[in-house]
Amino acid sequence: MTYLQDDSHLTLRWAEQFGRTFLFHGLFSTTELHTTDIKAITHVVSRPDIYQKSTAMRASTEIIIGRGVLSVENEEHKRHVNRRALNPAFGVTQVRAVTEIFLEKAVQLRDAWADISTQAVVIGFNYQFESLNGKCNDLDDALTDLLHSPHSIRYSAFRLAQGIVPILQFLPGPGQNLFRAARNKMFGIGKQIVNRSKADIRASKGERALGKSRDLLSTLLKANMSTNIPESQRLNDIEIVAEISTFLFAGHETTSLATTWALHALSRHLGAQRKLREELLTIPTDNPTMEELNSLPYLEAVVREVLRVHSPVVNTQRMAMQDDTLPLATPYIDKEGNLHDSLPIPKGQRIYIPISAINTDKEIWGEDAREFRPERWEKIPSSASAIPGVWANLLTFFAGPHNCIGFRFALVEMKALLFTLIRAFEFEEAAKSGIRSFTVGLLQKPAVIGEARSSGLPLIVKLKPYNIQI
Ligand code: HEM
Repeated sequence: MTYLQDDSHLTLRWAEQFGRTFLFHGLFSTTELHTTDIKAITHVVSRPDIYQKSTAMRASTEIIIGRGVLSVENEEHKRHVNRRALNPAFGVTQVRAVTEIFLEKAVQLRDAWADISTQAVVIGFNYQFESLNGKCNDLDDALTDLLHSPHSIRYSAFRLAQGIVPILQFLPGPGQNLFRAARNKMFGIGKQIVNRSKADIRASKGERALGKSRDLLSTLLKANMSTNIPESQRLNDIEIVAEISTFLFAGHETTSLATTWALHALSRHLGAQRKLREELLTIPTDNPTMEELNSLPYLEAVVREVLRVHSPVVNTQRMAMQDDTLPLATPYIDKEGNLHDSLPIPKGQRIYIPISAINTDKEIWGEDAREFRPERWEKIPSSASAIPGVWANLLTFFAGPHNCIGFRFALVEMKALLFTLIRAFEFEEAAKSGIRSFTVGLLQKPAVIGEARSSGLPLIVKLKPYNIQI
C-alpha cells in the first residue's frame, strides 16, 4: 500500500487510471473530489464565495500563526489583502528594493558554503537570523520547532486530520503544546519587531525615513499608519503580528524548497546547468538589479520549469459552502455508462486541487510533460493558456483571490540564489538510488529513494572560481 504523503504524485497516477474527475476516500471515510479538469478548477477558484478553505482547516492554521491572511475568508480576507493595507509590501517597487538584500544574503550563503563564516538577516522584517553561521536565536528556534522538529511530520498529519474532521480540534493533539509555545514565541518576537519599527518611524517623523526602509514590515506599517487610509481599511497591530508569522510560515519553506528542487533538477541536467552558468556569467557584477536578473531568458526558463515540475505546494483543498454544480470540460461516465458534462456538488464536499498534476498534465504540456526541459518555455502549447494560474500558466502560486501574495518576492529570491550559487559552484547528483518526493502538509520535499525522509537531498558541490566583480 502507498500513502498519499509518501508519494507526492500518487493522485496523478490515479487520474490516469480513473479519469480527470473522481472521488476518493480520505481520512475517516470522508470523500474528496479530485479533479484535473481545468473548467472545473477555473470555476472553483473564481467562486471564492462558494469554495473556501474549510472552517476546521482555517482554525488549525490559526492555532499556529494567528488570524492572518491565510486563515480568513470573504470580507475579512478582502480587508487583509486590500491594495492599500497589504499589497504595497509585495509590489514590483518593493521587490526591486529588496533584490539587493536577496543578493547580499545569497553571497553570504555562497561564502558560508565556501567555508567563510557569515551572518544573515531575514529581509522581511530586518530581524537578525544567524542560520548561515550555524548559531541559533529565538525566532530560528520557533521556526525549527514548527517546521523541522523530528516530530513535525506527525504534528502536521494531525493538523491535516483536524482540518478534515472538525471534532478533532477539541482533542489535545500531538505537538499542541509545542505549537502553542512556538506561536507565543513568534508572537512575542513579532510584537517586539512591530514596536521597534513603529518607534523608529515615529522618531524619524514617519514617511520620509521610512520611504528608504527596504524591509517588508516597514512598508506594511507605513501603509497602515498612514492617515490617508480610512481606519476601517487598516490592519491593527495584532493583525500585523499575525501577518508576520503568516509570511514566515507561507514564504520560508516554500521558497527554500523551490531552490532545493532547482539544485536537484540542475544536478540531473548538467547541460542545462552549464547553459545557465554561461548566461549568468555574462553579467559583470555580483549585485545585479531586479531588471538585470529578469532580463536573463534562460534563468527565467529554468525557474519556470522548476516551479512547473517541482511545485513546492503540491496540492490544496477547498470545501463547498453551499450546493453547487461544477461544469466539466471532460464529461464523466456514471455507473450506468451515461455521460455528464457537469457534476452536482453537495454543501460540505471537499475538493482536492492537484496543483502538481495540472502543472505536469500530458494533455496540456505534451508527452514529455513530466520531464525537466527549460527550452519548452521558448514556445509553450496553446492548451496551457486555459490554466487559470496567477503566474506563467502554472498553478504553482495558485489562482483567484487567494493567489500567493508573495510570488514576486519568491521569484526574485530564487533568481538571486541561483544567480549566485550557479556562478560559484558546480552541482552533481550524490544519491546513487535517485531522489523521491514525499508530502508534509501541502509541501513536497526530497528524500533519497530507499532511505528515510530525513535523508534530504545530498549533492556534490564543487567550487568553481570565477572573477568576482562587486
Ligand atoms: C516558491 C515559493 C512559494 C510558493 C510555491 C507559494 C505557493 C502558494 C500557494 C499555492 C498559495 C495558495 C494556497 C491556497 O490558497 O490554498 C499561496 C498563498 C499564500 N502565499 Fe505563497 N508561495 C510561495 C512563497 C511565498 C512568499 C515568499 C510569501 C510571503 C513572503 C508567501 C505568502 C503567501 C500568503 C500570505 C498566501 C495566502 C494568500 C491568500 O490567501 O490571500 N508565499 N502561496
